[in-house]
Amino acid sequence: MKACLFKIQTHKSIMSQFAELSFDGKSYQLPVVEGTEGEKAVDISKLRAQSGLITLDTGYKNTGATMSGITFLDGEKGILHYRGYSIEELAENASFIEVAYLLIYGELPTQSQLEAFEARIMKHNNLHEDFKKIYDGFPSSAHPMGVLSAMVSSLTAFYPGALNPNFTDEEADRTIARLMGKLPTIAAWAYTNSIGAPVNYPTDKDYCSNFLYMMFKRPNRDLKIDPVVVKALNTLLILHADHEQNCSTSTVRIVGSSHASLYSSVAAGINALWGPLHGGANQAVIEMLDAIHADGGDTKKYMAKAKDKNDPFRLMGFGHRVYKNFDPRARIIKKACDDVLEALGVDDPVLDIAKGLEQEALSDPYFKDRNLYPNVDFYSGIIYRALGLKTELFTVMFALGRLPGWIAQWKELRDNGEPIGRPRQIYTGATPRAYVPMEKR
Ligand code: CMC
Repeated sequence: MKACLFKIQTHKSIMSQFAELSFDGKSYQLPVVEGTEGEKAVDISKLRAQSGLITLDTGYKNTGATMSGITFLDGEKGILHYRGYSIEELAENASFIEVAYLLIYGELPTQSQLEAFEARIMKHNNLHEDFKKIYDGFPSSAHPMGVLSAMVSSLTAFYPGALNPNFTDEEADRTIARLMGKLPTIAAWAYTNSIGAPVNYPTDKDYCSNFLYMMFKRPNRDLKIDPVVVKALNTLLILHADHEQNCSTSTVRIVGSSHASLYSSVAAGINALWGPLHGGANQAVIEMLDAIHADGGDTKKYMAKAKDKNDPFRLMGFGHRVYKNFDPRARIIKKACDDVLEALGVDDPVLDIAKGLEQEALSDPYFKDRNLYPNVDFYSGIIYRALGLKTELFTVMFALGRLPGWIAQWKELRDNGEPIGRPRQIYTGATPRAYVPMEKR
């Protein structure tokens, strides 16, 4: 076996910093790059060419996949900024469309920029009538996340111009407005279809009110859209709008890096979001809380299950890959949850169970030692239920919120001309062997 010495030291020179890696009697200097918030990374892009070594980091726990100017988060301090603006200030003051513009185009819009952006989105919010034929092909029991992703993929059939990898800025802006406009309609039609209600065509209401209208208007009754509900929806969408290189966003970027269209990239992101360890956690949380309620509300029993290494049960809505202190979004959502339930006069018993679990977890050594705190999904489902949404739609709401982030990340990747994403691996399978004929196996 070869003598192996692997050490990384950082050095500062006047011009730049570098890390030194020693291996097998040779040393290599690797540049250290620094972000605007002081984060440092060892640039290993030339490491294999120089040394024959690659890095191994299953789950990308310690890998920076890109340099991005969109979202900053500090997991230790519980900080989240979109383009330098704090999530707390944006959630308090901005509209979701304003935040979408900020994420996608880099600056807060002026009044006229905002109006033009909103008008462009609303101009594109209708769906081709042929979409109804595709909806008709799904069983009414279809999970709306599957429908959402299929419908976003279908946009490539209706707007094949988006497949051109050499698009102009004007063409990219049109595709962006189309997707922003159509996703709420696609989601609402998936819902009305699943309950056998007629679809509602989009109106000229604001983005959130229009979505609620398309979801809940029925021919036989008037719909009064409550401003408390509109405000809560606006806040929830802003809180979900971007979260740097999470699982679905990384998926969008890696698909986009092959120069697949924005629609294909976002459809892939929707599928990645669906999993219960990611966006699907909001559905899993409410199902867990309901199960605890149905089981007599014994939170201690479920805390014990979550800590038992022989039990696959996890406390859904707890823990985060990056936040190791608290999730700033969870704090805002918890307050929004109290406000919405009070304003709508909803008394949901699972809210008490959720608060009880949170209290127990915050003082439990297992959760404290592992820095496990409630994440964005812990309280969002309770709000969605109070708004009258079916559980299967919760992750769809996450997708509606995350859309501008996916678009911004896809656009940044393409604007920067980033190369195709293609990780390497360390092979651990069989070494070469002769083919064994069937009769000898
Ligand atoms: N309940 C019980 N134990 C947990 C939990 C949990 N929810 N989360 C992590 N742990 C334990 C885990 O067993 C491990 O223990 P040990 O060190 O003894 O082996 C330790 O904490 C570290 O966990 P990990 O799985 O290595 O951490 P990760 O960064 O790979 O996973 C996570 C992060 C979010 C997938 C995970 O915390 C989890 O499964 N949480 C529940 C699902 C959830 O709420 N997901 C939504 C995430 S926030 C929204 C989003 O980004 O989509």
